[in-house]
Amino acid sequence: MSREKPRVVIDDNSRDGRVDVDALLADRGTQIIVCCGSGGVGKTTTSAALALRAAEQGRTVCVLTIDPARRLAQSMGLTELDNTPRPVAEVRGDGSLDAMMLDMKRTFDEVVERHASPEKAQQILQNPFYVALSSSFAGTQEYMAMEKLGQLHAEKTYDLIVVDTPPSRSALDFLDAPERLSSLLDGRFLKLLLMPAKGPARLLSAGLGLVTGALNKVLGAQFLTDLQTFIAAFDTLFGGFRQRAEATFSLLQADETRFVVVAAPEPAAMREASYFVERLAGERMPLAGLVVNRVHGDADDGITAAGAEAAAAQLRTRSDADADIAADLLAVRADRLAISGREGHQRRSFATAHPSVPTVAVPALPGDVHDLDGLREIGDLLAGTA
Ligand SMILES: Nc1ncnc2c1ncn2[C@@H]1O[C@H](COP(=O)(O)OP(=O)(O)OP(=O)(O)O)[C@@H](O)[C@H]1O
Ligand SMILES: [Mg+2]
Repeated sequence: MSREKPRVVIDDNSRDGRVDVDALLADRGTQIIVCCGSGGVGKTTTSAALALRAAEQGRTVCVLTIDPARRLAQSMGLTELDNTPRPVAEVRGDGSLDAMMLDMKRTFDEVVERHASPEKAQQILQNPFYVALSSSFAGTQEYMAMEKLGQLHAEKTYDLIVVDTPPSRSALDFLDAPERLSSLLDGRFLKLLLMPAKGPARLLSAGLGLVTGALNKVLGAQFLTDLQTFIAAFDTLFGGFRQRAEATFSLLQADETRFVVVAAPEPAAMREASYFVERLAGERMPLAGLVVNRVHGDADDGITAAGAEAAAAQLRTRSDADADIAADLLAVRADRLAISGREGHQRRSFATAHPSVPTVAVPALPGDVHDLDGLREIGDLLAGTA
């Protein structure tokens, strides 16, 4: 006897406001898609899935990934961090997909090399402060992702660039990075601390001396000298990092850019998505919609969590082993129903707070997404064609 598998449903409360993923990818006016969200929610997976789907629908696509899991990277033909887009074999159809992993330090080095004379570039590249900044300063990775996006966009090789964003705790870090980095590199604050006081600033010098002294103790005098040399070199080189950061930032506000916010159906990630959506509106950055990823659906058979719990409790009153097993299974079922109920609540709250934001829920697959077929499956789920 063959039993029909119960249909697994995800309560899609925002069906009318569903993200139309295929329309987004087909629109030639969309040239940049940026996938943002808090850590671990599925940004890399979503970026790669959108990029592959667009390529298989005929577009010339590049996906800029950041720290992809090793197996996913391998499935896209990425074996090393070399900052070069590599063609992904096995793309079906007439389009094409190139993929690359961002090498943050290499991208920074290239910026320096492109703008400085060879001697000056060497001076900067060897400066210990530069080495630290380019490989580990919070915000550098976010900024360099934008920098690389700017370069790829200017080359005009691709008609769609999909950008993954770094695994920061907060999605907002991506938008705050240019400001953070340019504040540091403009160096006004540090210059003030490090310069010998002149004129009226002398009044402050006692206080500043104390700060500089403290910094010297904590950071070491050599470090501060390196920092000062670096900032001076950097300043003359770029005539202010701020304008550069602003130019890159403005690409994110351009008509051809669309943001996709990814969240997990959990309070912290949904809260973060809420802040991010509001911030995008504030910055006039175009939002394509919200992807709620790894949602747990359940069989549509009319059983509720309370019903399953009650039935389990009743079974436990009988003292027989079979009834105990059945009660355990019902308890598992009750847990699953409770999870999908909580997730549904999270999504409804978001929809109430942001009624105009199109949303799509992607179910949690049983295993990780680590190959092109997995990406195609996610693509189908995103587009509602699964
Ligand atoms: N819908 C899904 N079903 C099952 N597994 C998923 C799904 N989406 C993502 N994953 C898995 O979850 C893990 C995290 O996903 P991913 O790397 O895309 O997240 P991320 O937001 O890029 O994380 P990070 O912030 O660390 O960069 C991966 O192992 C991925 O294969
Ligand atoms: Mg990632």
